[in-house]
Amino acid sequence: MFSFSINTGSKKTLYSDLLVALKELLSEEGDPVANMANTAALLWTYIPDLNWVGFYQAIRSYLILGPFQGKVACVKIPYGRGVCGTAAATGRIQCVRDVHVYPGHISCDPSAASELVIPIRGRQNQILAVIDLESPTMGRFDTEDVEGCSRLMEALGPFLG
Ligand code: SME
Repeated sequence: MFSFSINTGSKKTLYSDLLVALKELLSEEGDPVANMANTAALLWTYIPDLNWVGFYQAIRSYLILGPFQGKVACVKIPYGRGVCGTAAATGRIQCVRDVHVYPGHISCDPSAASELVIPIRGRQNQILAVIDLESPTMGRFDTEDVEGCSRLMEALGPFLG
């Protein structure tokens, strides 16, 4: 099946190996849901200290829950609401040190303390989805996580549309 190996020794090796693995996964199948599902599983397996990782797809003026790993989550988020809705509406990455002080944060899993949301752009540069990573640790995500996950989503985007 797949033949990748992930060196989790540092964030540098982790994200570099995850990018190689993701490109191998994405070359196997063109369906967007399959690609998001495997991406969520890959990240959930190898990125430490997460309580949730998954996708919300941009459908008209809402974000609709897509493939994810973790506890059940809210299904529909209006553009501009919460961390995910803000990322989708502004097109800007949201790296939140403490979700409890983020205005309008939507709490699906009360164990979440910090959050990273990255807009995902397709071939025409349009925002198709966001990925949401949540951690029970305050300040879990730093610039290496932002850059590493951004590279991953740049690789995934063209496979979503
Ligand atoms: N915390 C997110 C909502 C999504 S879930 O918690 C999985 C937000 O504020 O947008």
